[in-house]
Amino acid sequence: MRKRVIAGNWKMNMTGTEAKKFLKKIVEKINTDKKEIVLCVPSIDIPIVNNIIKNTKIKLGAENFYFENRGAYTGEISAEMLIDQKVSYVIIGHSERRQIFKETSKMINKKIIKAVEENLIPIICCGETLKQREKKETLSHIKKQIEDAYKGVDEKYVKKTIIAYEPIWAIGTGKTATADEAEDVCSYIRKLIKNLYDEKISQEIRILYGGSVNKNNAKEIFSKENIDGGLIGGASIKEDFIDIVKA
Ligand code: PGA
Repeated sequence: MRKRVIAGNWKMNMTGTEAKKFLKKIVEKINTDKKEIVLCVPSIDIPIVNNIIKNTKIKLGAENFYFENRGAYTGEISAEMLIDQKVSYVIIGHSERRQIFKETSKMINKKIIKAVEENLIPIICCGETLKQREKKETLSHIKKQIEDAYKGVDEKYVKKTIIAYEPIWAIGTGKTATADEAEDVCSYIRKLIKNLYDEKISQEIRILYGGSVNKNNAKEIFSKENIDGGLIGGASIKEDFIDIVKA
């Protein structure tokens, strides 16, 4: 049985002060070990959030990092720095980082390799644009993204990695993929992992759906065979997150 993961992606929201106030309201209600609850928060909020959740079952995640150990990389944060602050998960390859910050698949691959080597759990994002979906290029695009992401990733690390399928047209738009559309792509991703590695690994790896998940649609999406939870943006900075965790 794959343990479900509900990961919040706060993006560039929540000052430290706001985070304290918000978490006070929700921490007790999302504190469970029946599912893996992960809060991926802005780097500057990490110590604040860690301080609040340190005695709970809730896990701490970052939204980004850089793959070098240390040195002249102004503005960047290393894996070691994250680990020092009790971070155990990191989002890699989010479409906003690919599109706005021009992260290439090569950089994303380097980050994934660095993360697993440092024992950080990467939440690896993939997803197609609306144009690609309309041109029926969804699966070929996902195949390329997954193959690029896992290039050179040793099989001993793979089952610990998490993949988030996030169609770009569904992110922050209120437009969700239907549960069946999401399931189709997630089951395809599982097949890709089987082809790249083996059946056992493909059955162990967790695959999430993300893109306008809310308290009303979460239950149906999470009921699908190949969807092991969600990466939640907008709804993770509202009390709605409690209902999504319970869905
Ligand atoms: P959304 O974002 O839930 O606001 O659509 C999801 C994400 O970008 O991870």
